[in-house]
Amino acid sequence: MITPPTATNTAPIIRLRNVSKTYKVGEVEIPALRNVNLEIPPASFIVIVGVSGSGKTTLLNLIGGIDKPTSGQVIVDSEDVSKKHSSELVKFRRQKIGFVFQASNLLSTLTVEENVEAGLELLPLSNKQIIERTTRYLLAVGIEDKRKKFPFQLSGGDQQRAAITRALAREPKIVLADEPTGQLDERTGYKIVDLMKIGVIYCGATVVIVTHNEEIAKMADMIVRLKDGQVAEIRKKS
Ligand SMILES: Nc1ncnc2c1ncn2[C@@H]1O[C@H](COP(=O)(O)OP(=O)(O)OP(=O)(O)O)[C@@H](O)[C@H]1O
Ligand SMILES: [Mg+2]
Repeated sequence: MITPPTATNTAPIIRLRNVSKTYKVGEVEIPALRNVNLEIPPASFIVIVGVSGSGKTTLLNLIGGIDKPTSGQVIVDSEDVSKKHSSELVKFRRQKIGFVFQASNLLSTLTVEENVEAGLELLPLSNKQIIERTTRYLLAVGIEDKRKKFPFQLSGGDQQRAAITRALAREPKIVLADEPTGQLDERTGYKIVDLMKIGVIYCGATVVIVTHNEEIAKMADMIVRLKDGQVAEIRKKS
């Protein structure tokens, strides 16, 4: 019998081995991450928590190939991100990572649907496929009725929905979100992150979210708590 892949019986999609990151500001060294070891299973919903300055953004940046570790290995989907040159990292991010930021980062001169379509332009899709996929994800995230609106015509929650649509529509293997609900009220924030689970369910993406929202943390398959740049706790859903 063939067993479908689950979060427990497949190799990790993200693996950090003894990762340290030290920022240098002039002569001063700031240790942001210290000897972090972490394995994240594919198609899982991961929440990173920890007080300000504990290293959460640094961790996401290393996974997403925005920055490189000072030492250790960051392996994402069997690729060693820590060894890549910046041009290779651009390709890696484009192919595998979807980012959602605290502010939605939508292009203000484009409508919602144009923002989503812009994210699909570099993929090998025909125009017809781009339109079809845009509509499918706008419907899934529940903002299809706002497709012709410009970002300034939307509420903060809908702007974030549009940004999530843009990230998910590319069907990346990994979606990284740094406090995506930071500017929203708790209830809207909860609903928005619930939508990100569409990424996990629809296309088997792994979603890694930094959040302070306890309700969101409860949704996670795994909670990683950082403290002073180290993994203080890993809690898995039983
Ligand atoms: N580009 C940088 N240059 C120098 N120091 C940095 C830089 N980025 C982060 N740091 C430092 O590294 C440590 C970890 O920062 P990081 O931004 O990863 O924390 P965080 O957990 O995301 O915090 P917050 O909740 O406030 O966003 C902090 O001491 C921070 O001041
Ligand atoms: Mg941060």
